[in-house]
Amino acid sequence: MTLRAVIRGTGSALPARVVTNAELAQTVDTSDEWIRERTGIAQRYIAGDGETTGTLATAAARAAVDAAGIDPQTIDLIILATATPDRTFPATATSVQRALGCGGGIAFDMQAVCSGFVYALATAESLLRTGVARRALVIGAETFSRILDWEDRATCVLFGDGAGAVVLTAEDVADEGPGILCARLHADGTHEDLLYVDGGPSSTGTVGKLRMAGREVFRHAVHNLATVLEDVIGSAGITADAIDWIVPHQANARILSATARKIGVPEERVVVTVDRHANTSAASVPLALDAAVRDGRVQPGQLVLLEAMGGGFTWGAILLRM
Ligand code: UT7
Repeated sequence: MTLRAVIRGTGSALPARVVTNAELAQTVDTSDEWIRERTGIAQRYIAGDGETTGTLATAAARAAVDAAGIDPQTIDLIILATATPDRTFPATATSVQRALGCGGGIAFDMQAVCSGFVYALATAESLLRTGVARRALVIGAETFSRILDWEDRATCVLFGDGAGAVVLTAEDVADEGPGILCARLHADGTHEDLLYVDGGPSSTGTVGKLRMAGREVFRHAVHNLATVLEDVIGSAGITADAIDWIVPHQANARILSATARKIGVPEERVVVTVDRHANTSAASVPLALDAAVRDGRVQPGQLVLLEAMGGGFTWGAILLRM
């Protein structure tokens, strides 16, 4: 038997308002055709009054707790991955803890932008496997609409808002049983100028707006993701054809297919939600995972590979058995 961190429930939440490409084309110089062709995005969800990273995270967490069928009081660790917290402090994770009525365990936010959920899941796994906690909520939640420059067509069409969550429990399982099998995280601060926000509490005293050199980020994304996926697959002692599903960060449909092609996994085994959700940063992986669990594609016993790359740069991948 091995002590592993096992996903026991997933959940997600999206804002009420859908914004189509055609709607965006009324306010910026773009077109439905350009956005679909270059990114695969058809629509995104945008938070309205009263909807925040915290409210979306709470709704997603509640759905994950319900799916797991557990008492929220038994959760002793909450990690909320976000680059768009409700406030500079306290951590939005503590708002979720209060709203759900969890016990007085650990709760903190984690900031690795689009790789945030993968970073948070790997961190939670370490804390569960070392006995620091027994039952975790790992959440990715964002409201990027609030840090977009709505006059910059090169970025504002790419992002959306939302949240996804998983309940992760420490369990003694057989070797062939469920749980996280391998995790790899990376960062390279030399490229911080390719994807960043031009403000912050300690620099400008403002929230700032997202800036991105899209073409350069694209090139790095495909290379870094293919490399880390090959590392995880090799380290786990499996081959690419053993992977049932890749659940990737949803930045661009072309990145998803190029990465899958590079590592030799057929596109039919890639979970794609970028068409409906656009890029929701740290929320995108758990949103996609929850969609594929709820529509029955991802089944118990299957091998699932999560991956993400974002500002920093940060990137990483996690192999798990459901
Ligand atoms: O989540 C974190 C990681 N983020 C990513 O991975 C994003 C990575 N990058 C990308 O997904 C793509 O690079 C973009 C979707 C951002 C851009 O696609 P691209 O094929 O790399 O286009 P480009 O930036 O090279 O721009 C091509 C043309 C330019 O016009 P010119 O200079 O060729 O005349 C842009 O000005 O498309 C123009 N353009 C647009 N046209 C219509 C840029 N944005 C738009 C737009 N509508 N929204």
